[in-house]
Amino acid sequence: MPVITTIEDLRQLAKRRVPKMFYDYADSGSWTESTYRANEADFQSILLRQRVAVNMENRSTATTMVGQAAKMPVAIAPVGLTGMQHADGEILAARAAEKFGIPFTLSTMSICSIEDVAEHTSAPFWFQLYMMRDREAMARMIDRCKAARCSALVLTLDLQVIGQRHKDLKNGLRASPWPTPRNLLDIATKPRWVLGMMGTRRHTFRNLVGHVKEVTDMRSLASWTNEQFDPRLSWPDIDWVKERWGGKLILKGIMEAEDAELAVRHGADAIVVSNHGGRQLDGAPSSLAALPAIVRAVGSKTEVWMDGGIRSGQDVLKAWALGARGTMIGRAMVYGLGAMGEAGVEKALQIIHKELDITMAFCGHTNIQTVDRSILLPGSYPSV
Ligand code: GLV
Repeated sequence: MPVITTIEDLRQLAKRRVPKMFYDYADSGSWTESTYRANEADFQSILLRQRVAVNMENRSTATTMVGQAAKMPVAIAPVGLTGMQHADGEILAARAAEKFGIPFTLSTMSICSIEDVAEHTSAPFWFQLYMMRDREAMARMIDRCKAARCSALVLTLDLQVIGQRHKDLKNGLRASPWPTPRNLLDIATKPRWVLGMMGTRRHTFRNLVGHVKEVTDMRSLASWTNEQFDPRLSWPDIDWVKERWGGKLILKGIMEAEDAELAVRHGADAIVVSNHGGRQLDGAPSSLAALPAIVRAVGSKTEVWMDGGIRSGQDVLKAWALGARGTMIGRAMVYGLGAMGEAGVEKALQIIHKELDITMAFCGHTNIQTVDRSILLPGSYPSV
């Protein structure tokens, strides 16, 4: 067993342990993957200013995200198919998040259902919703979130059409999470994963199968999802979701100040500056590059968060310094899960927290609430 000290270590281990079709699903961007790469790379060029002879005892990275306590400004992002990275993946990740003290978001396209996660956790979690043509199905899903006591809804705004990820097509990954015969050979080399899967009944999109009238099995699910992502999504639809839900609403997928202003006007409790982890519009700037203009436009009116490219606690601190009051991690969680299940997600969170805490101290702060862009070397960071 290698000594794990970074998210990169977890990624490498996950790559060995998770079937290629599911590993690739997570570790990919659309088209040329230039935006996917930029998300990570843009963090690297930001330089930090070290301070010395400052009392660094008793540090805190704690904050709140839409009123929910978080041990650090990080929440688990919604990731489809998490339960195929590891058996019962969403439950394990939600448990790890709860234990650590940060919010967890369940994806609509999850393997464990809303009810599964609610049953196996005690902290309230968030649920991510797509705009679907079938409003009745959406309404029922919103009602299920209420019944499961979800504490916020995350509405994804950037998936009316789906970005093409070449690897998924080449691997034959479509709406079905089950492998084609070609992938079985690869799966045969992942005994740990197979054993886990043999020990659970959660093998399908359990938020949908059996809950949506037309979806009774994987075949009907494939055609249902293809038809359901609503390309007409516009602001009145968001108002409809807000009204139907009645709780905290987080709007995810905003990359322009103009859209951020609209999100505020339509009652967003938080917005997530996000290019969907480089999986949608390839050629868009990194989320980090888009962040400052959005913070300037709406940072005093709503909570501005970001996701995309976060692989360390230093990245979290840099995003915070540029005005993000929260971040979301998708791949860092997925790599931990694929590598070592629940313990791997815990490990990922511990790694990020330690890096965040120590970096904050080096920069002369004991409380994240006092950190601002003065910790960054002028000229090294994106600004407006
Ligand atoms: C869905 O949200 C995806 O990025 O695959």
